[in-house]
Amino acid sequence: MSSSSSIKVKFLIDTERKRVVFVEAGSAFVDVLFSFLTLPLGSIVQLLSQRSGLGSLDNLYESVVQLDAAHLRTEACKEMLLHPRSAAARQCENLKIKYISELYPVLLYTCSDSGCVAQTTYYYEYASKVSCGSCGNLMDFKLCWPGKASDQGGVFVNDTVDFIMTDDLRVMQSSFANGLSIFKELQIKDASILEERVIDFGTKEALDLLKRSLISKNALTEFCFPDVCVEASGDSSSSNKDEIVAGEAEAEAENEIILELFLNQRNNEVLYAEVGEDFLNFLFSFLTFPLGSALGFLSHNISPFDGCIHNLYSSAKSMSSVCFKSEVYRDMLLTPKLPAFYEYKKHMLKLKEVPSQEFITSGSCAQCISSNGRKRIKISPCPHGITEKKYIQHNPKSAKGVEDNSGAFVMSSKKFMISDNLDISPLSLISAMRTEMDFPISELVRKKVSIDRAKAQSLLSALLVSKKVLADAFFPKPIQKKQNVDGVALF
Ligand SMILES: *[C@@H]1O[C@H](CO)[C@@H](O)[C@H](O)[C@H]1NC(C)=O
Ligand SMILES: [Zn+2]
Repeated sequence: MSSSSSIKVKFLIDTERKRVVFVEAGSAFVDVLFSFLTLPLGSIVQLLSQRSGLGSLDNLYESVVQLDAAHLRTEACKEMLLHPRSAAARQCENLKIKYISELYPVLLYTCSDSGCVAQTTYYYEYASKVSCGSCGNLMDFKLCWPGKASDQGGVFVNDTVDFIMTDDLRVMQSSFANGLSIFKELQIKDASILEERVIDFGTKEALDLLKRSLISKNALTEFCFPDVCVEASGDSSSSNKDEIVAGEAEAEAENEIILELFLNQRNNEVLYAEVGEDFLNFLFSFLTFPLGSALGFLSHNISPFDGCIHNLYSSAKSMSSVCFKSEVYRDMLLTPKLPAFYEYKKHMLKLKEVPSQEFITSGSCAQCISSNGRKRIKISPCPHGITEKKYIQHNPKSAKGVEDNSGAFVMSSKKFMISDNLDISPLSLISAMRTEMDFPISELVRKKVSIDRAKAQSLLSALLVSKKVLADAFFPKPIQKKQNVDGVALF
């Protein structure tokens, strides 16, 4: 279980209006908050027990839980979507609060086949239920991560810097001037109403704050006063209402994903969409996207977000480089990468993948030990006389005898039905016909739409803020009334 370590965090409270003025904290606390940006969206759903409250994300997650594994390339694909790894898992091991230790167990899975153990090259994988790349048996033997990430000088930020943080999670270097400007913004004139409160911040508090950062503009106040209903204060965050900028003309025609929407022609209410495996791969991949990358793709239009997590993102972007361990660590927050083998190559929103890692053990060898009916791997002098052994990561998506380098999770020639809030099932004409409609069937029309980069951004945004993902992405509100769908009338 998670260790019980905690961080002492000082809150400055306005006792009159029951709100947090700011928080004064060292690097350990800021590291925990910034680590939120490295979490894949699927991990956030997992951590918050499928109650992230983000748009239709919980529902998408549940649809993957329910999906028959027969539609996936390998069983491990489901694990990759429901328990995605983070490319920053290694760094996050050094966080003071181990709130994510259960997400990324420090384990590797390897093969125990005696033939494989005797080889000089050996496969490992982070996902369980992966077949060995040489013998095809299930790799079910557990090995601890070799080595340890350096824990010199904080995790992401410079551990000699002190920070302050506003109620809506803007982070800045601690300075008198910064403190004063927050006072000014909150119109605090009388210091006698202020009170200091010290809070022991541990795993439970980290998860609580993660959730509030996603759904509230006053995350720290609601964290301190869970019963208080916060009145909307003056709009302090700079919300820009820019229209979505069109994709950077990197559209590759062969990557086009097409789906067919069935909708009410009067109000564009989407009944469901008929999609193929390419759309599912596109959509499911969002579960593997780290929050920081998702916010990066949407940073031109954050106005629909209820939470204040994007302020954390903008702070990481604008803070002086003295505040970070180095720019490499800042990039881990602003443009976090996918772990090796996670990328779906046809995705319109491209995320880089870290290369797969090899490591070498010398003078020792992994041995399979059986004790009390339980097998485990022990590193010991090698009985096969092999002194150097190379471990290479196996692609968990690769199924025996199937060539595919698209990085797809789903492999199915079937069509699927997707409801507007992302319930997903294989297409069944009977259930399609029995879908409850609150409008006359004569108003039902069919419309083909394709997804380019801009639409992909709209879908990601709608996924995080809306219960009507398809309708909001393809028929955004402001122009909804004017727009008339030129679909094919069905009746
Ligand atoms: C960390 O901050 C100190 C000042 O507080 C500065 O001297 C040092 O250069 C910083 N380290 C990095 C890596 O920027
Ligand atoms: Zn094997």
